[in-house]
Amino acid sequence: MKTILITGANGNLGAVTVRRFLDAGYKVIAVARSGSELGFARDYKHFELHQVDLADESAASLFITEAISLYGTIHGALFLAGGFAMGDVSKTPGADIKKMISLNFDTTFYLSKILFQHMLQNNYGRLIFIGARAPLKAEQGKSAVAYTLSKSLLFTYAEILNAEAKGKNVTASVVVPGTIDTKPNRDSMPDADHSKWVSPEAIADVMEFICSDKSLPLREGVYKVYGEG
Ligand SMILES: NC(=O)c1ccc[n+]([C@@H]2O[C@H](COP(=O)([O-])OP(=O)(O)OC[C@H]3O[C@@H](n4cnc5c(N)ncnc54)[C@H](OP(=O)(O)O)[C@@H]3O)[C@@H](O)[C@H]2O)c1
Repeated sequence: MKTILITGANGNLGAVTVRRFLDAGYKVIAVARSGSELGFARDYKHFELHQVDLADESAASLFITEAISLYGTIHGALFLAGGFAMGDVSKTPGADIKKMISLNFDTTFYLSKILFQHMLQNNYGRLIFIGARAPLKAEQGKSAVAYTLSKSLLFTYAEILNAEAKGKNVTASVVVPGTIDTKPNRDSMPDADHSKWVSPEAIADVMEFICSDKSLPLREGVYKVYGEG
């Protein structure tokens, strides 16, 4: 049985992903600040929930060090914690950039830098970061500058880890969702064509594929999960 760590587990994508991995037979270590959407998971034997503020480096480092010692081997980690903010250049003070980097990059970096060493030692591991479309086509990020810049770091970070892991069975991948079909997105964009959006279930399936043995030969993956959008 593979052990998978999932951050942002209580979020819209997170709760669906937790269910997908539990149903596929993984042991799931969920990390969230609240477990309000994860009541269903308590029926599964191989589910653990930890409440950690992942933007706090000391708390994140302590948690992941203890988790490695408690669970032995962690085979994969899905970094779903993150968030969005609007604002063009003229409306983006430096503090907003720092806030978005804390939310979208630090929450991934503090855990993964320690997990990466663990995976190198085991010669096995799958790290999955959640990017966004805008850093790949910066003109799409004009109205969300801090968000776009913060997500862009994850692509470069994955490249650095993949370079360092060359020759090992350890990979860092970036999954790039289009607009996800979630209730908050439907509420904020009621007139959009929701049928073009990508379902959280489809994204969870892609992440499960990356963690499965079917993806063993794949390297340096950037997976654009855009649906028809
Ligand atoms: N929704 C979209 O259309 C879309 C598109 C592209 C990319 N993405 C990315 O996909 C990921 C999941 O999106 P989503 O829609 O599922 O977002 P979501 O519902 O807001 O879930 C994100 C989760 O991250 C958690 N989180 C934030 N900061 C944290 C911290 N410091 N410590 C621990 N947990 C923290 C939040 O916990 P709290 O509830 O406690 O705040 C929340 O449960 C995000 O990285 C997002 O940027 C989303």
